[in-house]
Amino acid sequence: MIKKNIYDYDLNFFKEINDNFAILTAGDKTIGYNAMTVSWGGVGVLWNKMVAFLFVRHSRYTYDFIEKSDSVTLSFLSDKYKKEKALFGSKSGRDLDKFKETGLHAAYDPDYDGYYISESSYVFKGKKIHSMDIEYDTLPDDIKKKCYPNKDIHKMYIVEIKQYLVNEE
Ligand SMILES: Cc1cc2nc3c(=O)[nH]c(=O)nc-3n(C[C@H](O)[C@H](O)[C@H](O)COP(=O)(O)O)c2cc1C
Repeated sequence: MIKKNIYDYDLNFFKEINDNFAILTAGDKTIGYNAMTVSWGGVGVLWNKMVAFLFVRHSRYTYDFIEKSDSVTLSFLSDKYKKEKALFGSKSGRDLDKFKETGLHAAYDPDYDGYYISESSYVFKGKKIHSMDIEYDTLPDDIKKKCYPNKDIHKMYIVEIKQYLVNEE
């Protein structure tokens, strides 16, 4: 993996996150880690920092990790890993070891104290700087019905992108 300046990122993020998905990995050496597929979120600039906005439902096992640790990564894998991404988005780390099941590997970065997926095409390594629950009561009715029938709301995490890694193999 080669470290690049985030300004060199020139892909269409709408397509990347919506069609290709990402694997969000949260945790550190002390608490361990868990990973899940995400397709909602964005990137931009806030408080003069490069950030990603991510949305994790309270019910996810990954929620426990992102709450307890500041280290968050977004790993983007090619289409070759479609099945693996589907498993990371349909099974819970509470019930099985998704890394063992798929054969994907978590790489640990000691300087950063966080984990990302070794097989990624590219990775955003981030540190959580703020979070807030989506306010269910103020949402439009169609979104309440479609996205939150059981009120399993998302928490939004604002994550500063500290490093951008690219696999140039
Ligand atoms: C394509 C796709 C996108 C997803 N996007 C999100 C998301 O943005 N936020 C979220 O909370 N769950 C999302 N999920 C659901 C979680 O990935 C899924 O519930 C996962 O099994 C949670 O794993 P965990 O319990 O180990 O954290 C998505 C699932 C798929 C298949």
